Amino acid sequence: MKILITAGPTREPIDPVRYLTNRSSGKMGYALAAAAAKRGHEVLLISGPTSLDLPPGVDYLPIESAADMYQAVESQIGRQDIAIFAAAVADYTPAQVADQKIKKTGEQLTLTLEKTKDILGSTREVMNFSGTLVGFAAETENVEENARGKCQRKSCNLVIANDVSRRDIGFDSQENEVMLVYPDRTESLPKDRKDHLAYHLIEIIESL
Ligand code: CTP
Repeated sequence: MKILITAGPTREPIDPVRYLTNRSSGKMGYALAAAAAKRGHEVLLISGPTSLDLPPGVDYLPIESAADMYQAVESQIGRQDIAIFAAAVADYTPAQVADQKIKKTGEQLTLTLEKTKDILGSTREVMNFSGTLVGFAAETENVEENARGKCQRKSCNLVIANDVSRRDIGFDSQENEVMLVYPDRTESLPKDRKDHLAYHLIEIIESL
């Protein structure tokens, strides 16, 4: 099958030398890409900057900002059977990007941010994607309830949820413990190394 996977953080430019980003390492998305390629799928990885090596047999489309990622997904999703959104996309971006490096003139500096486009939330109605759609939900509270809301709002077949307030799993960790939130039920998976978990997740997603 053809599988598109988004991964990593995005970088939202402030001026020519500065950006806003987040703690995503990209490990979960890269592990999913590696597992999917190992299982014989044709994988396209659309990723923000990470320090990870590209898994063998994976096509790669590098991006920086949330807007870049939106465009890349929009141009590629039409030919995919499955789309998995593991990227930690910025929800807000600077409303204006300064042409020149911002100088430290005042005691305070206020940045105005504006909402980015929700890529996962646009796949069904804006991009007309009819394949299997899998989202992620990184939560710090009410994990299952928040993930179910996302699953329904964004018309996903599955949302993979984790509790990022726990320091032993999630962002930048080798391990993860996730809850599988389907439109009509929830299942919890035991804590595992991200590479093992990724292989298991691909098997589950293939069967949806
Ligand atoms: N996502 C996306 N584009 C965005 C933001 C998020 O594709 N601009 C995807 C992520 O890759 C992930 C899921 O959406 O699969 C996470 O959604 P999230 O931003 O947590 O959901 P929201 O409904 O926007 O809720 P919240 O208020 O928690 O941000």
